[in-house]
Amino acid sequence: MTALGTAVSDKLRAATSIAHENAERSAFVEALLSGSLDADAYGRLAGQLFFVYRALEEVGDTLADDPVAGGFHDERLRRLPSLSTDLATLGVDVESLPPLAATRGYVEAIRASAADPVRYVAHHYTRYLGDLSGGQIVAHRLREHYRLGDDALSFYRFAGIDKLKRYKDAYRDRLDALRIDDSAVQRLTVEAVRAFEFNSALFGELT
Ligand code: HEM
Repeated sequence: MTALGTAVSDKLRAATSIAHENAERSAFVEALLSGSLDADAYGRLAGQLFFVYRALEEVGDTLADDPVAGGFHDERLRRLPSLSTDLATLGVDVESLPPLAATRGYVEAIRASAADPVRYVAHHYTRYLGDLSGGQIVAHRLREHYRLGDDALSFYRFAGIDKLKRYKDAYRDRLDALRIDDSAVQRLTVEAVRAFEFNSALFGELT
């Protein structure tokens, strides 16, 4: 709890709710989830996410013992290996794939957050809690509409995490237990909104 008595996890969810709606309602996401695109469109998204998760997990490794960010470090969340498997199945060669402008900005923001772990937590929260939440719906739709199988959707399966809801509740408890002052909470929420906006910008470029 902070001085105002609202839990950090509540503040984060409230601060990002409009940005979340915007991301969720972007034309690319709506088209992808309604079945009007194709498996290649998902491949293009997954290819860009490769750069995002590579940065997220490289910075996460350097902050594994950090008093603020270290509490969120969890091997079971690591997505780069599963994403690489999926990309191979989808026929996307990341070596020859250029990161889009939005991806480059996103990666730069993640790398810069290494200097301010609370901002790194914002990036961690935005992606991983999203993958554990709406990501599950996304995987379901991709499977249904584009006949993608397990070998293309392993990114959405978290081996070792059986109960996603329980995991997310514990994650929010860890956010609430952070011993950070109001200015840090402010940096956390501002950076999380930015992280959502990078995702929306990426969807915009993929349209
Ligand atoms: C693609 C369409 C999307 C759908 C259908 C969707 C759906 C949802 C749903 C239903 C929840 C609530 C789950 C719960 O209460 O446990 C949720 C939470 C969340 N989503 Fe999304 N989402 C989408 C896109 C995104 C994107 C693009 C991001 C960010 C990259 C994102 C990040 C999050 C986060 C961080 C939460 C957790 C909020 C919290 O409880 O603090 N979502 N999403």
